[in-house]
Amino acid sequence: MIKSVQNNARALVVGALMLAGTVLSSAQAEEISYNHASMLAGSCFNCHGTDGRYGEDSIPSIAGQPAGVLLAQLIAFKRDETPNTTVMNRIAKGYTEAELEALANYFASIRD
Ligand code: HEC
Repeated sequence: MIKSVQNNARALVVGALMLAGTVLSSAQAEEISYNHASMLAGSCFNCHGTDGRYGEDSIPSIAGQPAGVLLAQLIAFKRDETPNTTVMNRIAKGYTEAELEALANYFASIRD
């Protein structure tokens, strides 16, 4: 009797671990590849210049900035937490947070 309770408990723990493994691997599957990020980034080039190297007028250069800074800015735009935005709040809403993270990593990786 006690033995079977232990076995059931063990089966539950194993089941929970397997479930956690599934959740983890599906989160990993959502990771966006560098190639996909570079394709998404193409729509940023119109304003931020090719590869985000532009820094004229009111459009800041975003190439080579730290990924954490870029991501924080993009998430703030998406969540309407940036007061002085003209277009970026609308643009950022068109991307998932995973895509914004991939874009932040992409632009951070660009070196002169
Ligand atoms: C229509 C023009 C336009 C497009 C397209 C555009 N941006 Fe912007 N971006 C701006 C402007 C203008 C600002 C300054 C903030 C504002 O007015 O919204 C800005 C600001 C930013 C900032 C903050 C930089 C800083 O130093 O303050 C980041 C990061 C950024 N954009 C990333 C992106 C990414 C990534 C994309 C592509 C998904 C993109 N932008 C597409 C015009 C654009």
